[in-house]
Amino acid sequence: MIIQMTSGIKFLQYLVLLVILFNLEARVADSNIIRCIDEEREALLTFKASLVDESGVLSSWGPEDEKRDCCKWTGLRCSNKTNHVILLDLQPIDFDSFPLRGTISPALLKLHDLRHLNLSFNDFSGSPIPEFIGSLSKLRYLDLFGTVFAGPIPPQLGNLSRLQHLDLGSNYLFSTGNLDWLSHLSYLRYLNLDESNLANSSDWFQVIGKLHSLKTLSLHSCYLPPVIPLSLNHLNSSTSLETLVLSDNNLTSSIYPWLPNISSIFISIDLGFNQLQGSIPESFQHMVYLEHLRLSFNELEGGIPKFFGNMCSLITLNLSNNKLSGQLSEIIQNLSSGCLENSLKSLYLEVNQFTGPIPDLGGFSSMKRLYLSDNLLNGTINKSLGHMFKLEIMCLSQNSLTGVISESFFSNISNLKELHLANNPLVLKLSHDWVPPFQLIIISLSSCKIGPHFPKWLQTQNQIELLDISNTGISDTIPDWFWNLSNKFSFLDLASNQIKGKLPNLSSRFGTSNPGIDISSNHFEGLIPPLPSNSSFLNLSKNRFSGSISFLCSISGSKLTYVDLSSNLLSGKLPDCWWTFDSLVILNLENNSFSGRIPDSMGFLQNIQTLSLHNNRLTGELSSSFRNCSQLRLLDLGKNALYGEIPTWMGESLSNLIVLSLKSNKFHGKIPFQLCQLAFLQVLDLSLNNISGKIPKCFNNFTAMTQERSSDPTIKVYYYTFFGPAYVYHYSFQDKLMLTWKGSEREYRSTLGLVKSLELSSNNLNGAVPEEIMDLVGLVALNLSKNHLTGQISPKIGQLKSLDFLDLSRNQLVGGIPSSLSQLSGLSVMDLSYNNLSGKIPTVTQLQSFNDTVYAGNPELCGLPLPNKCRDEESAAGPGITEGRDDADTSEDEDQFITLGFYVSLILGFIVGFWGVCGTLLRS
Ligand SMILES: *[C@@H]1O[C@H](CO)[C@@H](O)[C@H](O)[C@H]1NC(C)=O
Ligand SMILES: *[C@@H]1O[C@H](CO)[C@@H](O)[C@H](O)[C@H]1NC(C)=O
Ligand SMILES: *[C@@H]1O[C@H](CO)[C@@H](O)[C@H](O)[C@H]1NC(C)=O
Ligand SMILES: *[C@@H]1O[C@H](CO)[C@@H](O)[C@H](O)[C@H]1NC(C)=O
Ligand SMILES: *[C@@H]1O[C@H](CO)[C@@H](O)[C@H](O)[C@H]1NC(C)=O
Ligand SMILES: *[C@@H]1O[C@H](CO)[C@@H](O)[C@H](O)[C@H]1NC(C)=O
Ligand SMILES: *[C@@H]1O[C@H](CO)[C@@H](O)[C@H](O)[C@H]1NC(C)=O
Repeated sequence: MIIQMTSGIKFLQYLVLLVILFNLEARVADSNIIRCIDEEREALLTFKASLVDESGVLSSWGPEDEKRDCCKWTGLRCSNKTNHVILLDLQPIDFDSFPLRGTISPALLKLHDLRHLNLSFNDFSGSPIPEFIGSLSKLRYLDLFGTVFAGPIPPQLGNLSRLQHLDLGSNYLFSTGNLDWLSHLSYLRYLNLDESNLANSSDWFQVIGKLHSLKTLSLHSCYLPPVIPLSLNHLNSSTSLETLVLSDNNLTSSIYPWLPNISSIFISIDLGFNQLQGSIPESFQHMVYLEHLRLSFNELEGGIPKFFGNMCSLITLNLSNNKLSGQLSEIIQNLSSGCLENSLKSLYLEVNQFTGPIPDLGGFSSMKRLYLSDNLLNGTINKSLGHMFKLEIMCLSQNSLTGVISESFFSNISNLKELHLANNPLVLKLSHDWVPPFQLIIISLSSCKIGPHFPKWLQTQNQIELLDISNTGISDTIPDWFWNLSNKFSFLDLASNQIKGKLPNLSSRFGTSNPGIDISSNHFEGLIPPLPSNSSFLNLSKNRFSGSISFLCSISGSKLTYVDLSSNLLSGKLPDCWWTFDSLVILNLENNSFSGRIPDSMGFLQNIQTLSLHNNRLTGELSSSFRNCSQLRLLDLGKNALYGEIPTWMGESLSNLIVLSLKSNKFHGKIPFQLCQLAFLQVLDLSLNNISGKIPKCFNNFTAMTQERSSDPTIKVYYYTFFGPAYVYHYSFQDKLMLTWKGSEREYRSTLGLVKSLELSSNNLNGAVPEEIMDLVGLVALNLSKNHLTGQISPKIGQLKSLDFLDLSRNQLVGGIPSSLSQLSGLSVMDLSYNNLSGKIPTVTQLQSFNDTVYAGNPELCGLPLPNKCRDEESAAGPGITEGRDDADTSEDEDQFITLGFYVSLILGFIVGFWGVCGTLLRS
C-alpha cells in the first residue's frame, strides 16, 4: 500500500497512520458490523451439525443473532480483505477434554477460500478421510494428525496443488497403491504420514525425490518397503530435505545410496528401529550440516568410523541398541581427532558390545549426555569424566566397571542431574560430611557398594525424583531427615539391603507425585504406618512387618496398581475397603498370618490380574463377589483353611485364568464341570482337599493344556514405567511359578508359558481316570495320587509326551502297565506304587530304569526291576538279576514315598526386576 518510505520521519508518520487505522478497524470490529458471508455461515452450521461436541469447543458457533458474525467464532479466521473464511482450526481445549467426534460434512466445500484446515487430535472414530477434501483447492495447510481416521489415503489429495503442509500422521491409514498423487504437490514443505501403512507403495522413495520443496519428511512406522537399488540410477532427484524421519520400518542398508541422492543439506536423520546391518556407511560423512543422527535399534556391527570426528555440526549421535563393538578407548580416540569434540552434546552408545575401560573424554567440552550403559566395559572410569563440567547425564549402568569412586571424582561436575552407575561392581567411598557440587534428580546406584552406613551425602540432594540404592550393602537404620528430603519422589528403591527399624508416617511426605516404593528384602519391622495416599505401587515384601494392614484403606487407590506385602509377619483380618482399588493389577499377600474371611469387597478389584493369598490362615467360603474379578489370570488361594464347594462361577466368570491353585484347603464336594470352561488354564492345583466324586470328563476342554507349546507367552511380564521430565525408568515383574520336588526348587519364569500341570492328589476322588485327560498333551506334571481312582491306565497315556512328572500312586488302579508309557521320554519322575496293577512290567529300558520302589505295593506286578519274576519268565531269567533286591519293600522306602506324595508344591509368586534405560527410548 504505502511503499518507498525513504526518510525516517515519513516512516514514523506511516507507523502512526497504521496504528490509527488498526484502532479504527478494531473499533469497527467491536461495533456490530458483520463480516461473515451468509453462505459460509450456513455451511459452517451444517458442518457443526454433523459433529458431536461434548466439551463445547463450538459453543460460540450458532444461528442466534448475537452470534451472527461467524468470523468471530472459535477456531475461525476470515480474510480481512474478502471476508471469506480462510482458516479453520479446531483443537480440543486440552488433553483431558472430549475431542470433536462425528463426521465431516461436505458443506465444508462452500468455504472456497479455505487455506488452513487443522482438525488434529479430534476423533473421527475410524471413518475414512472424505475424498472431497481433495476439492478444497486453496488449501495450504492440512493437518489431520491423530484424528482416528482409518482407511485408504485418498489420492484426491493430489489435487491440492498449493499444499505446503500435509500431516496425516498417527491415524489408521493405508495406501492402496503407488504414491504418484503425492508428486503433484510440488510446493509441499512438510509431509507426515507416520503410522500409515505404505507397504503397497514401493515407489515411495522415487516420489519423495520429486518433491523439490520438501524440507521435513516423517514416515515413522509406515511398513516402508526397502529402497530398490537399481531404480536409483534413473533417479535424478534433489529435495530440500533437512529433517528425515524413517524410523520403525524394515529398511535395510539399501537406503544408504538414496540418502545423498535425495538431499545434500540434511540437518537431522532418524533411521532408528530398522534392520540396518553391517557397518556404519561412509555416506554420512559428506553431510556437513548434519546435527542429529539416530541409528539406534538396528543390527549395525563393527566400530564407529573415524569420519565422525570431523563432522563439525553434529550435536547428537545416537547409535544405541546395535551390535557395535571395539575398544571404547580406540573409538573415542578416533572421534577426538577433529571438530566433533567441540560440537557433540549427546552421545548414545548404550546396549552395544563395546569393551575396555572408560577412556579420557575430557576433550568433549560440550558433552551434556553420555550413555554407555549395557556394554562390556570393564576396568576403571577415567577421572576426566569428573571434569566434564557441562555433563548433565552420566549413564554407565550395566557394565563391569570396577574401582573406587571417591568424592574427588565428582568435584567439577556441578551440572550433573542424572547419575546412573547401577549394576557395576563399583565401590563408592564418599565421606560422611561430603557436600556434592550437584543437585541430582535421578540417582541409580543399584548393586554398587555403598554401605554399611546409609549415605549421608543424600541429605544435600533435595530435588530427587528417583532414588535406587537397592542391593548396595547398607546395614543401618534410615535417618529421620531422609523422609523429608524430597517431595518429588516418583520412585524409591531401597530393596535388598539390611535396613532396620520402623517406618514413620509417610502419608504426606512425597508431595503430589504418585510414588512407587520398593523396600522389599530388608529388616524393617513394626506396624506398617500410613503410606503416601497417592502411591502407585508398594513392595514391602520380605521384611518383618507385623500387625494389620489397615493402612491400605487410607490410600486413595485410584493410581495404585501393584501391592506386594508377602512374606512378612502380618496378621489380622484383611481390610474391607478394596472397592477403592479399581486400578490394582497385582496383589500379593502370601506367606503371612492373615485370618478370617476373604472380604466381599475384593470382588471390586475389577482390574486384578494376579492375586495370591497363599499360605495364610484364611477361612470361610469364597464370596461370590469374586466372580467380578474377570481379569484374573493367576489366583492362588492355596495353604489356607478355606472351605465349601468349589464355586461354579469360577469356571463361568474367571475365563482368563491361567493358574488356579486351591491346594491345601478344606474344599469338599465335586469338581464342578463348569471349571472346564477355563480354556486358558495351564496350571490347576486342587490337591490336598476333601474333594470327592468323579473327575469330570470335560478336562480336554482346557485348550491350553491340549497344546504342546503355547502360541503366546501366556505368562505376562508387567512393566511399570516412570516418566519424569527427563527420564524413563522401567520396573518389571513377571509371574513366576516354583515347582518344588524333594526340597529342590525349580523356577519357571519366561518358560512358565510351557509349564502345564494338573494336580488333584490327596483328595477322595473315585471312578476311572477319564480318557479325556489323555488329550492334555501339553501336561508337564500329572498328579492324581492318593485318591480312590479305579479302572485301568489308558494305553493313550503315551500321548502325554511332555510329561516330566507322573504320579498315579496310592489309588486302586488295576490291569497292566501299558507299554506306551515308554514313549514318555522326558519322564523323570514316575510313581505307580500302591495300586492293584498286575502283569508284567513292559520290557523297555525306560521303564526298567526306574527304581523298583515306583512299582512297589502292587503284589500282582512282576518283572524287572521288581524282584518277583513273572511266571512265564521264571525259567528264562538268570538268577543273578534279582540279587540284592530282597529288601526293596522296606518300611524305609515307604516313608520315602509318603514324602514323595507331597512332591510338587506350587508356589506362585512374582519376580521383580528394576532397571533404568536412562530414558533413551523417548529422547534422542
Ligand atoms: C486481520 O485483522 C486482525 C484484527 O482485526 C489482525 O489481527 C490480523 O493480523 C489481520 N490479518 C491480516 C492477514 O492482515
Ligand atoms: C494444528 O493444531 C495442532 C494442535 O494444537 C498444532 O500442534 C499444530 O501445529 C497445528 N497445525 C498447523 C499446521 O498449524
Ligand atoms: C482430483 O483427482 C482425481 C484423482 O486423482 C481426479 O480423477 C479428479 O479429476 C480430480 N478432481 C479435480 C476437481 O481436480
Ligand atoms: C518387519 O518385518 C517383520 C518380519 O520380518 C514383521 O513382523 C514386522 O511387522 C515388520 N515391521 C515393520 C515396521 O514393517
Ligand atoms: C576386561 O575384559 C577383557 C576381555 O574379557 C580382559 O581381557 C581384560 O583383562 C579385562 N580388564 C580388566 C581390567 O578387567
Ligand atoms: C468347553 O468350552 C467351551 C468354550 O470354551 C464352552 O462353551 C463349553 O461350555 C465348555 N464345555 C464344558 C463342558 O464346560
Ligand atoms: C531306590 O531308591 C532307594 C531310596 O532312595 C535307594 O536306597 C535305592 O538304592 C534305589 N535303588 C536303585 C536301584 O537305584
